Amino acid sequence: MTAQQTEQRVLPSDLKPELLPKHVAVIMDGNGRWAKRRGLPRVMGHKRGVDSLKEILRTCNDWGIGALTAYAFSTENWKRPHEEVDFLMSLFQVVLRQELREMMEESVRIQFAGHLASLPTSLQEQIAQATEETRNNRGIRFTIATNYGGRQEIIHACQAIAKLVEQGLVKPEQIDEALFEKYLYTADIGDPDLLIRTSGEMRVSNFLLWQIAYTEIYVTDTLWPDFNRSELYLALRAYQQRDRRYGSVESTVK
Ligand code: FPP
Repeated sequence: MTAQQTEQRVLPSDLKPELLPKHVAVIMDGNGRWAKRRGLPRVMGHKRGVDSLKEILRTCNDWGIGALTAYAFSTENWKRPHEEVDFLMSLFQVVLRQELREMMEESVRIQFAGHLASLPTSLQEQIAQATEETRNNRGIRFTIATNYGGRQEIIHACQAIAKLVEQGLVKPEQIDEALFEKYLYTADIGDPDLLIRTSGEMRVSNFLLWQIAYTEIYVTDTLWPDFNRSELYLALRAYQQRDRRYGSVESTVK
């Protein structure tokens, strides 16, 4: 490893480790525009987007951020041209297969959030394998939201709890936030502290609707394939300047 690479693996000195977000979520937007500006097919933007994701995952892991959740495919993305959907499904599969060894070396623990049963069977198998193989890793928790929709996740949780009520295992008045969260895909990773959206759009696009109630949101005009370690540094610096009050008066972070 070069001296520069070693330096990049260390948290920049002006970021305070105690004020780092524990969980970062990303809406990886702008792949299509990145490709279009270069006269390339849209899918080339997704391909380059994988490189950005790898760099951000590695950097979060190196800098001591405990969890990264990336929005890879929404329940609405099926409406895209079928060539693009097919490309994305095979891209997920190829990347998972190719990167598994490196993720093991870096002790990444992978999990998936979303309605996985309607993904292609071969992708479901790859997902099951990656989840199982990395289960005991102790590095960053990397959640890939695939066929994910925030509203669908909330309905899914409601249905699961309704069944418990029907079976007499839970009383309606026992349903509280803590119980509800157990039935979300993110049950064991909790809420993101920071949500980053690239490409300048001011929307949450059905991502982690329940979980982002008190999340700090950072939007950058940078397109996802150009989002790199330096861009993450800027997002973290902005985050560390925020005053998180959770509806109270006094800051709970600083
Ligand atoms: C949004 O940009 C991006 C997506 C819908 C796909 C994101 C997927 C990746 C970056 C690949 C991740 C790979 C793995 C293995 C998790 P857009 O196409 O909506 O861009 P546009 O708004 O400019 O058209």
